[in-house]
Amino acid sequence: MAGKSDKEIIGNYEVSKAGLLTRREVLTMGAVAAAGALVAPAFAAAGGATAPAASGPEPYVAKDFSGLQGKLDGLSASQIEQHLKLYKGYIGKANELRSKLKEVELASANATYSPIREMLVEQSFAVNGVIYHEFYFGNLGGKGGEPTGDLKSAMEERWGTMAKFNDFLKAAGKSVRGWVVIGYNTRGGFIDSFGLDTHNIGSPANFVPLLVLDVYEHAYMVDYGIDRAKYLDAFMKNVDWDVVGKRFNITKKHPTGLDATI
Ligand SMILES: [Fe+2]
Repeated sequence: MAGKSDKEIIGNYEVSKAGLLTRREVLTMGAVAAAGALVAPAFAAAGGATAPAASGPEPYVAKDFSGLQGKLDGLSASQIEQHLKLYKGYIGKANELRSKLKEVELASANATYSPIREMLVEQSFAVNGVIYHEFYFGNLGGKGGEPTGDLKSAMEERWGTMAKFNDFLKAAGKSVRGWVVIGYNTRGGFIDSFGLDTHNIGSPANFVPLLVLDVYEHAYMVDYGIDRAKYLDAFMKNVDWDVVGKRFNITKKHPTGLDATI
């Protein structure tokens, strides 16, 4: 991946090649721990380029996942193309809402309806729509199979065997309406799983996504109609476990994250 000579970009994290935490990584993890999956997207520079400034007019910059088109086993170029268009729509709305919230009218604040309420709620939808899609596309492009090393050990501790994990993930994928998120619970220090029916409902705090599965119909309708089971099989064949393992290795350096004691 491109980047400064002593650092590399892994997903949403900038990491020292020497294995040391960078200041940016620490800040990123703090953002994760404080706000669930809301990893500061300022670190999500396309192609590993220098991250844009968080204070700029459009801090959410779409990553370039076009390399996935035509490269996946069982997920067509057209399917990925349509999905990427949707992802870029969330980028636009995340930027729009962040900008408008700076100037929103405050006097009418009300929990039934008010402009500030609607913008705050929908910003969480748009931003999580950005972030979860980036984790999802980021963990595609591999050859499936199994994880290795510490990640495999941690997953076997939770599920017993990878075969049982695979069964669990497919069942989870059939059970929720939006996202299945396998990640690291910084509160407990273990691998955990959550299901979200929509981007901003059920997103856990103190939890770092490692493997993200999109089960919205738009993720597979082009290729499979309403046959979600076939899509889940295709997803499993394209998981990049190296990426998931790198995410885990970064995340576990922060075993407790932030909790209510500080
Ligand atoms: Fe999606």
